[in-house]
Amino acid sequence: MRIFFVLLLLLVFSAVQSAAGRQGKRYSVMDFHAAGDGSTDDAKAFAATWNATCGDSSSPTMVIPGGRTFLLSQIRLSGPCKSPVTVQLDGNIVAPNVIWTTTAANLLTFYRVNNLTVNGSGQMDGNGAIWWTCFNKKLLAFASCNNLSVKNIHLKDSPDKHMTLFRCSQVQVNNVSVRAPGKSPNTDGITMAFSDHVYISNCSFKTGDDCVSILSGTSDVNITNSACGPGHGISVGSLGGNNTTALVERITVSNCSFSKTMTGVRIKSWQGGSGKANGFLFENLNMTDVQYPIDIDQFYCPPGNCPPQDSAVAISDARFINIHGTSSNPKAIRILCSQSVQCRGIYLDNINLSCSRHTARTRATISNAYGTIAGTVKPHVQFLGA
Ligand SMILES: *[C@@H]1O[C@H](CO)[C@@H](O)[C@H](O)[C@H]1NC(C)=O
Ligand SMILES: *[C@@H]1O[C@H](CO)[C@@H](O)[C@H](O)[C@H]1NC(C)=O
Ligand SMILES: *[C@@H]1O[C@H](CO)[C@@H](O)[C@H](O)[C@H]1NC(C)=O
Ligand SMILES: *[C@@H]1O[C@H](CO)[C@@H](O)[C@H](O)[C@H]1NC(C)=O
Ligand SMILES: *[C@@H]1O[C@H](CO)[C@@H](O)[C@H](O)[C@H]1NC(C)=O
Ligand SMILES: *[C@@H]1O[C@H](CO)[C@@H](O)[C@H](O)[C@H]1NC(C)=O
Ligand SMILES: *[C@@H]1O[C@H](CO)[C@@H](O)[C@H](O)[C@H]1NC(C)=O
Ligand SMILES: *[C@@H]1O[C@H](CO)[C@@H](O)[C@H](O)[C@H]1NC(C)=O
Ligand SMILES: *[C@@H]1O[C@H](CO)[C@@H](O)[C@H](O)[C@H]1NC(C)=O
Ligand SMILES: *[C@@H]1O[C@H](CO)[C@@H](O)[C@H](O)[C@H]1NC(C)=O
Ligand SMILES: *[C@@H]1O[C@H](CO)[C@@H](O)[C@H](O)[C@H]1NC(C)=O
Ligand SMILES: *[C@@H]1O[C@H](CO)[C@@H](O)[C@H](O)[C@H]1NC(C)=O
Repeated sequence: MRIFFVLLLLLVFSAVQSAAGRQGKRYSVMDFHAAGDGSTDDAKAFAATWNATCGDSSSPTMVIPGGRTFLLSQIRLSGPCKSPVTVQLDGNIVAPNVIWTTTAANLLTFYRVNNLTVNGSGQMDGNGAIWWTCFNKKLLAFASCNNLSVKNIHLKDSPDKHMTLFRCSQVQVNNVSVRAPGKSPNTDGITMAFSDHVYISNCSFKTGDDCVSILSGTSDVNITNSACGPGHGISVGSLGGNNTTALVERITVSNCSFSKTMTGVRIKSWQGGSGKANGFLFENLNMTDVQYPIDIDQFYCPPGNCPPQDSAVAISDARFINIHGTSSNPKAIRILCSQSVQCRGIYLDNINLSCSRHTARTRATISNAYGTIAGTVKPHVQFLGA
């Protein structure tokens, strides 16, 4: 009995110790001579702090303390690191309020860092307004990462996309907010390409472009419990531009709300592309005053002069379930598919979209699509067949 008790104590003690071990050493940017005054460039101090943190094998934390503002010019923090790293962002990071590069760049890039956590109540402010006529600088970029978690931080006024994931796997984004004016160009919330197993939850996106955009090479994405608007909606694509081959698979958007956005959920592809976009579930979505709540467009062409082509990215198995609310445009459902590569396996179940202008009735525009209907679907939809 007594031995058991001692063993139990030992177990509890070692559990507490290993929890403490996970905490690891803390490296504050202030100890590496950051000014934190909002006007001195602290990029060098951040790089030095990162160097120390990344080389530590105790699962360390890089601390950006609260109550201060750190001006950063372009900075890249690279791995691999000796152990999992946490970046505790409680202070604010602000970009210089001048145009300082004319080439595409990111303000803060994490490159080849595995097992990374970025957490905190801090904010990154891209000071984007002066860039919105030449938009080419992204705010926070993750490239070639495995097992990333981004929590609680605020991103604001990026010159271009706010957060990007490129060649990342196993990513959790939770309780992150993105805020930019509805009219700011290209200020997507989160954009991802060549990434997989990305989970976005409890986020708020107010942007001038897509709340989330999912580009080619991406699979197994779940977006849930998030709010979008203003913005262009949650978008897959555009895919297949410049005759490229696209692949996007297993995307779920559930329990999200859209308010005053251009589209709700959409899949867009250019003519002339190839490959496939397959396996979509759009479920439990609230639409308020959304222009096109449900949108599949295989003729995406913003320049507006694309010649007809036979080849297209094949879109299949897209389920839209339990989608309610209002559309600002009578064309609440738009499913425009290629004559040569028709959409297949479209499923609509329990849809009720009314016009926000009470006088108009909503309608659906459907071409070259095969699919099935279940429950009540308003507006009425007619497919070519099952
Ligand atoms: C990082 O550490 C390496 C070697 O440990 C050193 O060569 C380099 O100058 C350091 N960089 C910074 C920014 O401190
Ligand atoms: C961190 O990531 C690497 C590479 O993905 C992996 O092999 C390793 O097990 C991870 N380390 C920890 C402590 O989780
Ligand atoms: C992912 O990262 C977390 C925290 O950095 C770590 O505890 C966990 O072991 C990692 N998972 C894998 C599979 O390496
Ligand atoms: C994440 O950051 C918040 C805000 O600073 C803090 O309260 C919380 O303890 C942090 N979470 C973890 C797991 O470190
Ligand atoms: C979400 O993030 C905000 C801002 O950092 C924080 O105040 C809040 O406590 C977080 N919510 C949860 C449930 O962690
Ligand atoms: C999202 O928020 C809900 C409600 O606050 C919470 O139960 C859930 O754990 C959160 N999701 C994640 C991944 O933390
Ligand atoms: C992601 O969504 C799919 C489809 O709804 C579901 O089967 C899967 O369990 C979800 N994964 C996570 C980690 O939430
Ligand atoms: C097509 O390629 C041109 C030249 O590289 C590039 O400027 C353009 O953005 C590309 N278009 C798409 C849709 O990818
Ligand atoms: C795409 O292919 C079509 C047909 O082969 C060709 O006419 C067109 O020029 C190509 N477009 C691009 C951007 O390469
Ligand atoms: C949709 O809005 C209704 C009423 O505002 C709310 O009760 C419900 O939770 C919302 N659903 C989602 C998925 O946001
Ligand atoms: C979405 O909401 C429904 C109903 O509240 C709930 O049963 C389901 O678990 C939620 N899904 C996710 C992925 O949070
Ligand atoms: C659809 O929504 C409208 C407006 O909220 C409501 O009046 C109508 O009863 C709903 N129809 C169905 C079939 O749920």
